[in-house]
Amino acid sequence: MSSILETYEAMHRGSSLLAAQARGVFPSGVTHDARAFQPFPVYVQRAAGPRKWDVDGNEYVDYIGGHGALLLGHNRPEVVAAIREALERGTHFGSSHDIEVAWGRQVIDMVPCAERVRFTASGTEATMMALRLARAFTGRERVVKLEEHFHGWHDLVVGRLVGEDQHPHSVGVPEGFYDALTIVPAGDVKALEEALRGRDVAAVILEPTGAHWGTHPLAPSYLREARRLTRETGTLFIMDEVITGFRMAPGGAQERYGIMPDLSSVAKIVAGGLPGGAVVGRADVLEYLELREGDIEWNGKQRISHQGTFNANPVCAAAGLTALRLIAAGGECERADLAAAELVHGLNDLFRRESVPGSAWAVSSMWHMNLGVPAPFPTDVEWDAAEEPRGIEPALMRPLRQALYNHGVDLMGNGGMVSSTHGEREVEDTVRAFEAAVADLRAEGLLA
Ligand SMILES: Cc1ncc(COP(=O)(O)O)c(C=O)c1O
Repeated sequence: MSSILETYEAMHRGSSLLAAQARGVFPSGVTHDARAFQPFPVYVQRAAGPRKWDVDGNEYVDYIGGHGALLLGHNRPEVVAAIREALERGTHFGSSHDIEVAWGRQVIDMVPCAERVRFTASGTEATMMALRLARAFTGRERVVKLEEHFHGWHDLVVGRLVGEDQHPHSVGVPEGFYDALTIVPAGDVKALEEALRGRDVAAVILEPTGAHWGTHPLAPSYLREARRLTRETGTLFIMDEVITGFRMAPGGAQERYGIMPDLSSVAKIVAGGLPGGAVVGRADVLEYLELREGDIEWNGKQRISHQGTFNANPVCAAAGLTALRLIAAGGECERADLAAAELVHGLNDLFRRESVPGSAWAVSSMWHMNLGVPAPFPTDVEWDAAEEPRGIEPALMRPLRQALYNHGVDLMGNGGMVSSTHGEREVEDTVRAFEAAVADLRAEGLLA
C-alpha cells in the first residue's frame, strides 16, 4: 500500500508542476505564508458553495473559506450578480459613488458599535488605522495587545515576545518602535489591570474569541473585564472582528456577547469575498479622520490623513453590500453555526469510537481540534475544559493534512471555517475523510 506522501504526489501531479514554476517566481513559491505546504501546495482551479476542485480534478470540502471571507460559501449567486452589475458600470471611479454610501449604512445598521465607518482595502489596514485613531484620540502612545493574538502584518502588531524577554521583537521593524507596545498573557485579568494602571495606554486590541480565531479560546468574562478596565482607565477597547464580524452574528462577536467596544476592525466578510476592510466605531473617535474647512491647526496637526487607492471601490462595495444584506436577513450565521456543531459532534463521535487521542470543538462557525495528544472532549461544542487546548501534535500536522487532501478535505490551521452552504453532506464527507486519514496515519505509525 502506498504511503500518505506517495498518494499525495500521485494524486496531485498538476499541482506539483505549477509549484515547480512558482518556486522561481515567489519566495517559497507562495503569495501568503499560510499557503506554503510541503512537498508542494494544492493548486485550485474553481470553487462553488462549500467545495473546491484542484487542477488535477480532485474535489475538496473547503474549510479555508477564502481565509474566512466566505461565510456565504463560494460564488453565492446574488453576490456574483452584484459584482457583474458593478463591473459593467466601471471598476474604479476615483470618486464617491452611491454603492459605498449604501454599504457604509448597512455596516452601521448591523454592527452595534458602528456610529461611523471608514473603509480600507484590508484587515491589516483596518487594525493599523484603529490603533492610530486610538492614539490620536487619547493623546497616548502605548498599545496593549494579547500574546499570540493576530491583527495582520503591519509593524506594531507583528511584535512578539521572545523567550524570557518582555520586550517584543520582529525582524525588519526598528526596535524603538516597540517601546510603546505591551504584550500581556491572554485571559489574565490581573496582568491587564497592571498594564493599564499607569493610564498611559491608548488602546487594548484583541481577537474576541481568542488567538487565531479561537485556537486559544478566550472566555467572554475576560472580554467583559477588559471592557470594564479600559473604560475605567480612559483606554479605548478595540475588538478586532476581522474574522468574527458578520460571522458570529450579523453584528459579530460584540452582538453575540453583548459587549460594546469603542472601535472595531472588520474585513473579509464585510467585502463579500473581495478585498476590503473597515474601521467602525464611536463618532467622536472617527472624527479624527475629518477634514475641517479652514482649520489649519486641526487639519495639519490633529487629524489623521487617510488615503488608499482601492478603498470602497464599486466592485468590492457591491459585493459587500449584497453579502451583508443577505446576512442581515437572517439564517446565514445560524446555518454555518449548526453545520460546525454537527461537524464537531461527528468528529468527536469518531474519535471516541476509534479511541483516537484528540477532540474537536467550535466557537460559532470556527472549528478546531486537538490530535495526537490526550485531550478532553467539550461538553457540547464550545471548549469548556479548564485547561488550554493542546492543538495538533506538530509532527502530525503535515501528514494529517496530506492525508485529508488525499481524501477530499482542505483544512485551515487546526480546523477551519464553515460557511452557510456547508450541510449534512459536507459533514458526512469530512467525517469519512477523517476516518480514512486516521487509518492512514495509524498504518504509518504516526498516530496511536
Ligand atoms: C483577527 C485578524 N485581524 C487582522 C487580520 C488581517 O486581515 P487581512 O488579511 O485582510 O490584512 C486577520 C487576517 O487573517 C485576522 O485574522
